[in-house]
Amino acid sequence: MTKFTRKDLLGIRELSVEEINTILDTAHSFKEVSARSIKKVPTLRGKTVINFFFEASTRTRTSFEIAGKRLSADTINISASTSSVTKGETLIDTARNLEAMAPDVIVIRHSSPGVPHQLARLIDSSVVNAGDGAHEHPSQALLDAYTIRERKGRIAGLQIAIIGDITHSRVARSNVHLLTKLGAHVRVAGPRTLLPPRFAEIVEDGEGSLTVCAKVEDAILDADVVMMLRIQHERMSAAYFPSLKEYSIRYGLTLERFALASQEAIVMHPGPVNRGVEISSDVVDNARSLILDQVTNGVAVRMAILFLLMQSRGLGEG
Ligand code: CP
Repeated sequence: MTKFTRKDLLGIRELSVEEINTILDTAHSFKEVSARSIKKVPTLRGKTVINFFFEASTRTRTSFEIAGKRLSADTINISASTSSVTKGETLIDTARNLEAMAPDVIVIRHSSPGVPHQLARLIDSSVVNAGDGAHEHPSQALLDAYTIRERKGRIAGLQIAIIGDITHSRVARSNVHLLTKLGAHVRVAGPRTLLPPRFAEIVEDGEGSLTVCAKVEDAILDADVVMMLRIQHERMSAAYFPSLKEYSIRYGLTLERFALASQEAIVMHPGPVNRGVEISSDVVDNARSLILDQVTNGVAVRMAILFLLMQSRGLGEG
């Protein structure tokens, strides 16, 4: 297995195929911990993980906390709304004050792209990007890849449709980087107003490909994986489509549209799901929906991320 030597996990774009596979393989070795009656290993005993979230989260924050606890790290959650950021303290000062308490890892979610990168340059603790604006959400893409690999046995050569609000989706960006690096053929589709111009140019390397489709049906046709995205209303300053009803009719994943995909196709969604908008309830609850498997795998993948970052710092160091 390739040695993982990074101080921080900031994005998928800069990761090599070998580093991605190291994270996925390490996650595989940790997955069984969550199936034990006592779900704990001593690997990160004495280490401290701070979850610092400036945006709402259910899955990412909880699974980083559970991941840390299952590795025996001390985990602390801080929300911007209950921190001294509300009293005017800058992000940098807040980070320096947190660092003064000697955490080993700070997991940060922020609405501005680049904030985790800025933090990583300033502090010695490892920094994990838990989502920065519409830029990247690396741990989500890693858990998505893990889930696809677990179910399909491979990623290379698969046809993967990513549908919805591409412009505002950090999940789409991280997944496009990751899946094309690993050799998948990714097709994206959605309202033209929610597809960034020259989006296909974001792919820089890898064996896979990225195609921007004019119609949702073109992206879904014969796909092995259909990944749906929520409309990111919180990042919109204008109306990008006439109504939610029209969006649902033109772009939503119904059983009828899903039938265009391969017979063995799986459905994925990073959550939170807006039932009846981007995906119908009967697709969410379908036997080929892996939405909750993604959440389960998120714990193993985040255990791997925390472990590998600590290992690259020297696990035994105080
Ligand atoms: N997928 C995801 O990031 O979910 P949360 O916003 O609940 O963390």
